[in-house]
Amino acid sequence: MRRKIVAGNWKMNGDLAEMEDLLGEIKNQLGSVDEEITLIVSPPFPNLYPAFQSLRETDVLIAAQNMSQHEKGAFTGEVSADMLKGVGAKAVILGHSERRSLYHETNKDLAEKVKTALNHKMNIIFCVGEELESRKQNKQVKVVKHQLEEGLFHINSKDWGHIIIAYEPVWAIGTGETASPAQAQEMHAEIRKMIAEKFTPEIAEKVSILYGGSVKPANAKEIFAKKDVDGGLIGGASLKADDFLAIANSF
Ligand code: G3P
Repeated sequence: MRRKIVAGNWKMNGDLAEMEDLLGEIKNQLGSVDEEITLIVSPPFPNLYPAFQSLRETDVLIAAQNMSQHEKGAFTGEVSADMLKGVGAKAVILGHSERRSLYHETNKDLAEKVKTALNHKMNIIFCVGEELESRKQNKQVKVVKHQLEEGLFHINSKDWGHIIIAYEPVWAIGTGETASPAQAQEMHAEIRKMIAEKFTPEIAEKVSILYGGSVKPANAKEIFAKKDVDGGLIGGASLKADDFLAIANSF
C-alpha cells in the first residue's frame, strides 16, 4: 500500500505571524483528516524552525524547499542538510521547476543534492515536469524520463524508501490550468514504468507519485482517484487552511 501524501509548498510566502495563523488553522482541523494521509508543509527557510515548534505535537512533517549539495563552507546564501535537520526538516523538495528555470539548477546539480540528502537520511520530494512547448510537441514523457535518468536514477535500490516523486507540468503551475486526470494518470503510469524498468516492479509499486499544478478542492478528488496518483504537491491552495485540508480529504 503506497503512502497517500498531501504536501503544501508555500514557496516564498508568509511572514512569521501569517505562518503562525495558517498553522493554527491547520492544527484546528487536523482531526478531520484520515490518519492514513501524510501531511507535509514546506515553509521558506526562516520559518522552518517556528513551524517545527508549532507542529511538534502533530504528525505533520516539515520539508525544506531546497538544500545545498555541499556539506558546509564558503557557499554564501546556501543551507546545508545538517542545518535543515537541525531545525526539524526531515524532508526536502528538490528539482522544483522554479529552481530549474529561475535559478538554473541542472540535472547534475540535482543528482548531487539527491546524493547529499540521502547521505543525511533525508526524505526527498523529487520534482519533474515538462514545459508547455514540450507538451505541445508530445515530448513530455521524453523530458520527464531525462530528468529522472540524469537527476535521480543514480541512487541505490535501498534508497527508494526515502523518495517521493512529484510530477508538476510546468504549464499547470500557478496558472489555474490543471492537467486533466487522464493526463496526470498517463504520466504517473509512465514514471512508474520507468522505475520498474530501471530498478524493479516491486520498488516502482511502492513509490508515492504526487501530482502538482493548480490542484484545488474542486479538482483534487478526480485527480487523486487515478490509480497511479498518490496525492498532491500543492502551491497556492496550501496557503489557505480550509483549501489545504479539503484537498487532504479528497481521496
Ligand atoms: O510545488 C507545487 C507548486 O508548484 C504548484 O503550485 O499554485 O499551481 O498549486 P500551484
